[in-house]
Amino acid sequence: MSVDVARDGAVAVVTIDRQEALNALNVETLTELRDRLRELAGDAEVRAVVLTGAGEKAFVAGADIKYMSGLEPEQAKGWGALGHEAAGLLETMPKPTIAAINGFALGGGCELALACDIRYASSRAKLGQPEINLGIVPGWGGTQRLARVCGIGVAKDLIFTGRNVDAEEALRIGLVSRVADPVLEHALETARDLAAKSPVALGLAKRLVNLSPGALETEADEFGELFASEDAKEGLTAFAEKRAPTFVGR
Ligand code: CAA
Repeated sequence: MSVDVARDGAVAVVTIDRQEALNALNVETLTELRDRLRELAGDAEVRAVVLTGAGEKAFVAGADIKYMSGLEPEQAKGWGALGHEAAGLLETMPKPTIAAINGFALGGGCELALACDIRYASSRAKLGQPEINLGIVPGWGGTQRLARVCGIGVAKDLIFTGRNVDAEEALRIGLVSRVADPVLEHALETARDLAAKSPVALGLAKRLVNLSPGALETEADEFGELFASEDAKEGLTAFAEKRAPTFVGR
């Protein structure tokens, strides 16, 4: 089982567990995550959801690059859509979702955290959108949600440079709202607190705060199209071959 769901009273803790790849999401893990989130969204006994990664090192190190290196545009669109579904559930389920970022939250990992309502980080967490270094762009909501959470200037800085930020910088730029160890305990404490509030009022508060235009569909579509480029193939393959990519501009 690569996605574990444990109950702590009215709180559900979802743990992504694929430690051999730093919890990077392949089709099986992402599908399982999407399915578990769908169940939790419809479970009235669950009042708050905490999302975290197994092990000491990673929350989620992104989408599985080795899998993506073989994708054609149509497959990449489907892959992008699956990530959008999982992220969309975190963002829209009528109960609060909290990311307990216990290590690397990169690419799709950062995007899942961004889709959560609240983000707490451990002091050793590293966050970022490094897709540009692979010749691709964020494909699970990052171009929209990072800009909404941190502002357009920070979003362009992180997405264009692909640099990672440590927990302190993440706190300073508003990417996380708390840095605390052990992060899961702090997230659980907040989740228990939220689970005791009116689910009707919390659900409405979440829906109202989320009201705003976005371009998530465009991102999902263009992410797939990009896989027709030589640069995407080169960037993704170079990671698997443990070498620096050479981009040719097409
Ligand atoms: N996909 C597939 N495998 C991954 C992975 C990923 N995203 N991240 C890590 N792994 C694998 C590594 O390949 C390695 O496997 P092997 O032992 O079989 O080589 C294993 O996990 C451990 O990783 P490292 O040896 O690289 O560990 P490290 O401590 O030296 O480095 C790291 C950690 C900086 C996170 C590095 O693993 C890394 O840069 N990973 C890729 C991060 C990334 O670019 N994520 C974005 C992916 S693109 C995306 O998510 C698109 C989207 O928007 C949907």
